[in-house]
Amino acid sequence: MQEDSRLIAALDVDTLAEVKAVTAELGELVQYYKVGMQLYYSQGNDVLTYLKQQHKNIFLDLKLHDIPNTVAKSAAVLARLGVTLLTLHALGGPSMLKATCQSVRETASELGIIPPKLLAVTILTSMNQQELARIGCDLSVEQEVLKLASMAQEAGVDGIVASPQEAGAIRKLCGPDFLIVTPGIRPAGAALNDQKRIATPAQAIAAGASHLVIGRPILAAADRRLAAQQIREEMRNGK
Ligand code: C5P
Repeated sequence: MQEDSRLIAALDVDTLAEVKAVTAELGELVQYYKVGMQLYYSQGNDVLTYLKQQHKNIFLDLKLHDIPNTVAKSAAVLARLGVTLLTLHALGGPSMLKATCQSVRETASELGIIPPKLLAVTILTSMNQQELARIGCDLSVEQEVLKLASMAQEAGVDGIVASPQEAGAIRKLCGPDFLIVTPGIRPAGAALNDQKRIATPAQAIAAGASHLVIGRPILAAADRRLAAQQIREEMRNGK
């Protein structure tokens, strides 16, 4: 089966043994893995080294958020680790985003490596209208997401993490080259777990997502290879 780098499997596990079991089982079906806080705080750079040895692309989802100097320098450290995608919070503001884009690109050029693509996280999908109001924001969730997306694009980031339900509006606003990475994907007939605002793989791709991050529908499947194959087929139906 040909590679499809639009599918990112979320390694939401704690141990290197589990990472090895999952990647061995999925083999050539999955080229791209997401390492989030849970796995990175537990295994550190060992897991990145392992995934690179397996020639996998890495989406390092640490959602950086601090003053510009701190995030810019921390992201430059992470850029040296050879990851392909890196996240930071749009709510850190334009100065933080600009400083980070600049330092990551400078570091990569000094090292002669391809810089990781920077993705801004807008409003967490766990937040609803009431919670947004509690932090002093009177816009609707969609209005706030679009406002942050366009601010982040102007600041120079390569893309955004978004709910599939916002992907269409972001694609329209930010143009064809902007990366849109969507979690909250559930294949037709799969368990929703705690995800509320979901879409199928075909719907997310049709709405304009460039990458899909999928965890439990693959990791918790009785046959992970079959689950990944079916998801890839569904993605192709979205084009
Ligand atoms: O298991 P599931 O497919 O729901 O996993 C989705 C992955 O995407 C998890 O790693 C989760 O942390 C991440 N994610 C999310 N919603 C966001 C941002 C990230 O589900 N808004």
